Amino acid sequence: MPDQTVQDAARTWPLEGLARVPYWVFQRDDVYSREQTRLFQGPYWHFLCLEAEIPEPGDFRTTHVGDTPVIVARDQDGEIYVFENRCAHRGALICLKDRGRAKDFSCVYHAWTYDLRGNLTGVAFREGIKGQGGMSPGFRMEDHAPRRLRVALVHGLVFGSFSDEVPPVEEYLGEEILGRIGRVFAGRTPVVLGRFTQMLPNNWKLYVENVKDSYHASILHLFFTTFQLNRLSMKGGIIVDPTGGHHVSWSAVDHTVQRDAEYAKQNIRSDSGYTLADPSLLDGFAEFPDGVTLQILSVFPGFVLQQIQNSIAVRQILPRGTHRTALNWTYLGFAEDAPEQRRARLKQANLVGPAGYISMEDGCVGGFVQRGIAGAAEECAVLEMGGTTAESSPSRVTEASVRGFWKAYRNGMGL
Ligand code: FES
Ligand SMILES: [Fe+2]
Repeated sequence: MPDQTVQDAARTWPLEGLARVPYWVFQRDDVYSREQTRLFQGPYWHFLCLEAEIPEPGDFRTTHVGDTPVIVARDQDGEIYVFENRCAHRGALICLKDRGRAKDFSCVYHAWTYDLRGNLTGVAFREGIKGQGGMSPGFRMEDHAPRRLRVALVHGLVFGSFSDEVPPVEEYLGEEILGRIGRVFAGRTPVVLGRFTQMLPNNWKLYVENVKDSYHASILHLFFTTFQLNRLSMKGGIIVDPTGGHHVSWSAVDHTVQRDAEYAKQNIRSDSGYTLADPSLLDGFAEFPDGVTLQILSVFPGFVLQQIQNSIAVRQILPRGTHRTALNWTYLGFAEDAPEQRRARLKQANLVGPAGYISMEDGCVGGFVQRGIAGAAEECAVLEMGGTTAESSPSRVTEASVRGFWKAYRNGMGL
């Protein structure tokens, strides 16, 4: 009775509401199963891949929505179709590759075949041999297929949903978030510069919290603070959408500002005296007319769009059990980039990813939490920085967008 157990736990969600997060939410198997049904198969849009990864008819990619494997394919009509990567016969993966080009898909187990839209088109030995064996006469191929997902495209990003109730993606995102996505792509043609998967030793929600946590960014990350890329004292702000689930954190480097006293006062580890042997790493180019040098954007439940200087990437957060998360990074440039701009982006790619100068700490801090809370299921995290609500704010010394995530999460989970 997993639902009953979660109901029991729900009664123990602290009275402080968004300002507290009970640690059992990162640990329990019943919570995990409920997330799979209510969030990952529920009325939400999930980032799958970029259109640029499947530009031609026949191109496909495989990925996941939560635990569920899916195939994203471009059919001969140029449209993108998404369906479960689960054979309608006995459930094997239909496609074993990560990406490629195909005319159709054939399951390796008993060779049932599917077209690029996920229709079952062939059953091996359907008629049997010499009148013996074969499928029962009433078997109709059109009655059997992997489940299909709804598909939505936003500035070249491909989203999918199992739900018929999810609103159109523009409405789901809202004008402000949509505008902030559009600002990064700016009508250009995305090109994939690189990709990798990073396994995180923690629950997926600890990574989502980290992404939304503007408070930690310039404290945990020595590189950010030391090289003046992101300090809480810079111009910037937080946008939290009305659902709470999507957010933007942005800032603009102002090189005229000297090292500020605010950091010296806090005696923060990240305010170090290190220098770069090769400062060209930070030689960027002016790309955005608004002067914003850092924008981290998240879409509930597990999508991130990052612009750090000229390093642009999307991240897909995939739960892999209560204590593990797959984080898929895709670095982007644009077809319109000049060669030296491409080089600058590749160089700045060193800032992020598993060993990135900035983001390496994020790869382990979730694990520190997961280990720290072992044996403390009934204890809670305190989220009171910047108040107890989940609203947009001109200050980044706040946990407003983290509280926003919990607002959307509790709503979706009925907790
Ligand atoms: S499981 Fe796919 S053909 Fe049998
Ligand atoms: Fe971080």
